[in-house]
Amino acid sequence: MTRAANEGSGRVRENTAVVGLQWGDEGKGKVIDLLAGEFSAVARYNGGANAGHSVVFNGKRHALHLVPSGIFRSGVKSVIGNGVVIDPEALLVEMDRLGAAGADLSGLAISDRAHVVMPYHKLEDALREEMLAAQSSFEGETEAGAGSLAAQHGPGRSIGTTKRGIGPAYADKAARSTSIRMGDLLREGALREKVAQVCAFKNATLPGISPTAQTLDPKAIADAALKAGERLKPYITDTVYLLHDLLKAGSPILFEGANATLLDVDHGTYPYVTSSSCSVLGIPPGTGVPGSRIQNVIGVMKAYSTRVGGGPFPTELTDGTGDRIRERGREYGTTTGRPRRCGWLDLVAVRYSAMLNGATGIAIMLLDVLSGLDELKVCTAYEIDGKSTDRFIPDATGLAKVRPVFTTLPGFQEDITGAKSRAELPKNAEQYVAFIEKFVGVPAKVISIGPDREQTIQS
Ligand code: IMO
Ligand code: MG
Repeated sequence: MTRAANEGSGRVRENTAVVGLQWGDEGKGKVIDLLAGEFSAVARYNGGANAGHSVVFNGKRHALHLVPSGIFRSGVKSVIGNGVVIDPEALLVEMDRLGAAGADLSGLAISDRAHVVMPYHKLEDALREEMLAAQSSFEGETEAGAGSLAAQHGPGRSIGTTKRGIGPAYADKAARSTSIRMGDLLREGALREKVAQVCAFKNATLPGISPTAQTLDPKAIADAALKAGERLKPYITDTVYLLHDLLKAGSPILFEGANATLLDVDHGTYPYVTSSSCSVLGIPPGTGVPGSRIQNVIGVMKAYSTRVGGGPFPTELTDGTGDRIRERGREYGTTTGRPRRCGWLDLVAVRYSAMLNGATGIAIMLLDVLSGLDELKVCTAYEIDGKSTDRFIPDATGLAKVRPVFTTLPGFQEDITGAKSRAELPKNAEQYVAFIEKFVGVPAKVISIGPDREQTIQS
């Protein structure tokens, strides 16, 4: 881990990763936007349009799904790495919207090796979810009670996906014979052949999931893909060399994680996860940059917990406190508009995520949302089969069996949205932050006390 590579400008800047430590929606967009001006590029390495990052620019809130959150910083390159799965039409809609809002898109670079989310991936995602929803839930797993908020997300055995085609696109990447990459959109002959091959497979399998599945028309699908490719051509490039050229020049890179560690396909609450490597462990395969080049890792967490979709959530609150957090925190999905499940902070989970990511700092977001509560509970251990453990269980069936053990801290009543430093925080808010730092074993580098850029305490 050498610092020398970053010393070109005289100021030591290190390659940094920003990743989510919980189940997503931690406020990664705000943190990336805050830091982006210090970097030469912001690079996405995983996920697709399932992500929803919001950034405030010119007084307006912008939702980003595929474009990296540094797009509003001029002179900062926005790189969509090979590990991302791209829905070309969704990307073009987003680019048009951002362009109209005044963003400079000239620094956008899209990996020619990123896999394409095709229309049949979104169709398959929806059909699989429907089929799973019709089945009764697994015995022993937390069943979202009928009528509860959770029931809206993962009925039956469904995962509660965003239906953006993410799982089927990554499955085809692994399958190889049914995959399309961004570079293919620029090669008409090869693309038409590939699409025909894929459609033969899909037309043989999709009606097995649902007899109502429409027959795919390879010509129409290829025409649409080529049309999108034509518009995206100026941006499609070899991003691996692009990033290594920046590294060679000593220009620091900010890596933007989408989704979050507890949704990681290997290390999250499987199978209620997304289909990519969301932690820093996904950066090397998703960008071609080795892990040894990443010096800083900022783990982003909320001051409480939320989750969208199905799956176990030990500290979930289905009472008025949960509703209060949802309303005050505006906990509704950026991508799907779904109300998020809310709960107390699970520090067993956060400490596990910080460990996996090698977090060098944490960003504690939405602390202001907790003001007005008499007491604040944090989960500091799990009880399972009568025994206590401080270890996370990255498996849905196992995690569904735990009972959270809480430590209760005094709440704070004051409005903290104007605090300029930690010293200005009310005693109990500062104590809450210090408790998190000590339990997780990582210092807080960012504390967010409101949506605006200025409502941030940095150290
Ligand atoms: P950001 O980047 C919150 C969840 C979905 C679902 C599961 C699988 O905004 O933090 P998928 O469509 O990926 O197959 O869905 O993962 N999920 C997210 N939840 N924020 C996200 O991203 C998410 N990305 C995926 O709700 O439970
Ligand atoms: Mg989200």
